[in-house]
Amino acid sequence: MDFSSQHRKLRSPRLCLFGLALLFLAGCAFLKQWAYEGFNRDHWQQPQKVIETLALRPGDHVADLGSGSGYFTFRLAEAVGPKGKVYAVDIDREMNDLVAKAIKEKNIGNVELILARPDDPMLPPIGVDLVLTVNTYHHLENRVSYFQRLRKYLRPGGRIAVIDFDRRAWFAGLWRHYTPAEFIKREMEQAGYGLQGELTFLDRQSFLIFTPNPQAARPAPSSPTDGSAPRAARQN
Ligand SMILES: C[S@@+](CC[C@H](N)C(=O)[O-])C[C@H]1O[C@@H](n2cnc3c(N)ncnc32)[C@H](O)[C@@H]1O
Repeated sequence: MDFSSQHRKLRSPRLCLFGLALLFLAGCAFLKQWAYEGFNRDHWQQPQKVIETLALRPGDHVADLGSGSGYFTFRLAEAVGPKGKVYAVDIDREMNDLVAKAIKEKNIGNVELILARPDDPMLPPIGVDLVLTVNTYHHLENRVSYFQRLRKYLRPGGRIAVIDFDRRAWFAGLWRHYTPAEFIKREMEQAGYGLQGELTFLDRQSFLIFTPNPQAARPAPSSPTDGSAPRAARQN
């Protein structure tokens, strides 16, 4: 056996392993996308109605916090128009890569990716008019201090819209990936926000809109319940 065939023989299992690893990694991103978006999400998520309810104006700047595979990112981008901006914010580089691919394919000019830190969305100082976070609230750690910190990124009149699974979502309950609305309201109040609106048209998620409470202009010292509040929801 000559050197090259010996070398090829040695290399091919490694190539196979490398190929398998690549397939696995590609599969992971695909699996995650499938897990986030499922088969008939448009039916229960009513994305058009959600976007209409948010009453965005052309030129608005919006953060899609925990943007995942971009289910809401591109709908938001359409709503704010070419003069607006959507920050697709996620801590998962694979998900950001998926969104980057879609930005390229769709030739979208008003979406910017941000690889966030778990404790900070790392938005630019110019700030945003709206933070939308969908099915992500239950992933966030130390939510009271997270949202206290987030306040600095809100422009005057800025809002935070939280959509998360609640007890009606049996499949989310199975994995404990949900947060009861009363937890969200209490934590957001502790973080210095007031409830501006509660929408009830989604059949398995709460949809709450908050604005900063002027009386709580300065972040309060860490609340005793921060990070240790009884949780019906999983943290990761
Ligand atoms: C269930 S997915 C929801 C994705 C998207 N919002 C949707 O509705 O399809 C939750 C996303 O939140 C991201 N995430 C978790 N913790 C985060 C954090 N601290 N900051 C930003 N994103 C986070 C995860 O990486 C994941 O992509």
